[in-house]
Amino acid sequence: MNGFAEQHDRAKEVLDPVAYDYFAGGAGDERALADNENSFARLALLPRVLRGGANRDLAVRLPGAPDALPIMVAPTAFHRLAHPEGELATARAAAAAGTVLISSMASTVAIDEVVAAAHQVRAEAPVWFQLYLQPDQQVTAALVERAERAGCSALVVTVDSPVFGRHERDRRNGFHDLPDGYAAENMRGLPGGPAEDTRDIEMSPEISWRHVESLRAMTRLPVLLKGILHPDDAHLAVGLGVDGIIVSNHGGRQLDATPAPIEVLPHITNAVGGAIPLLLDGGVRRGTDVAVALALGATAVGVGRPVVWGLAADGEKGVRDVLERLRDEFDQALALCGGRRCGDLTRDLVVRRGFGG
Ligand code: FNR
Repeated sequence: MNGFAEQHDRAKEVLDPVAYDYFAGGAGDERALADNENSFARLALLPRVLRGGANRDLAVRLPGAPDALPIMVAPTAFHRLAHPEGELATARAAAAAGTVLISSMASTVAIDEVVAAAHQVRAEAPVWFQLYLQPDQQVTAALVERAERAGCSALVVTVDSPVFGRHERDRRNGFHDLPDGYAAENMRGLPGGPAEDTRDIEMSPEISWRHVESLRAMTRLPVLLKGILHPDDAHLAVGLGVDGIIVSNHGGRQLDATPAPIEVLPHITNAVGGAIPLLLDGGVRRGTDVAVALALGATAVGVGRPVVWGLAADGEKGVRDVLERLRDEFDQALALCGGRRCGDLTRDLVVRRGFGG
């Protein structure tokens, strides 16, 4: 277990076992899921000393978030299965903690209400909208418009899911649909669907770089691609002019045979050469994990499951506790590495355990 064992154990205690499995699980044999955390444990930091690290400044520049913390909330679906207030609690907590919330298209609260909840806490709190491009372009366009009208400041297109991953736990539990009383609220009243009802979220095996180009023509919001692992894809994304990449294997929920994102990050950093911001998610559980990711070229990281555990354990306060602890741990790690700003974390500070340098 990891830095958030307490929240995890409490969440497991209070959650319906089927919901717990949905949140905790990964694809196949859950090798990628396990490796995401284990890979961080195989890396170590080689601190610099006597560099005068007072007055630290953690702010980073991101598209649609010019003054952000380098720790963000990764998009995860169905928060009302974790807590009755669902995404409203998550949004308030992220705003209070000063982190960017990437709100899942599969949220159980509509995006306009999610953004309003965040903005009630902090008027300029950035909320990004995560999108699966839908087979029907009109539906995609309606979702983009909904996110723009709500006040989202960037779009995150998840590109690692041409089909659903194989979640063995959900199959065993017979979990295929949301229970009665819950819905993917962003899918309500969309073109071609029932007026008052919700459409199903569809995965689109046919989506290609051409669809990303069409999306960019649809919106003035920055567009980031989430779920890139191959350096050649990172290169293509830069060529297409996207505003950022999230290096991710979907928390081990899609292709189980993938390496951990932190293992491929240095290759992607090389491929991109600083042209656009790189973000990373998967297995980030400690402030030192954040420091390692930034040293290897990420501008910021996302956290998925720990936020859900905090939400299940203690609602808004639980999420805030998770995010604030990560921020404080990261600040401390930065100081202990001899850094004052995120940019002071450089690749030479990361070594593999067992080799020492
Ligand atoms: C996810 N993830 C995800 N990603 C996405 O783009 N859209 C989504 O709706 C979801 N939903 C979702 C549900 C649950 C329960 C989990 C655990 C994950 C993936 C998520 O954004 C992120 O990539 C991982 O969660 C990061 O890994 P960690 O922090 O959970 O290890």
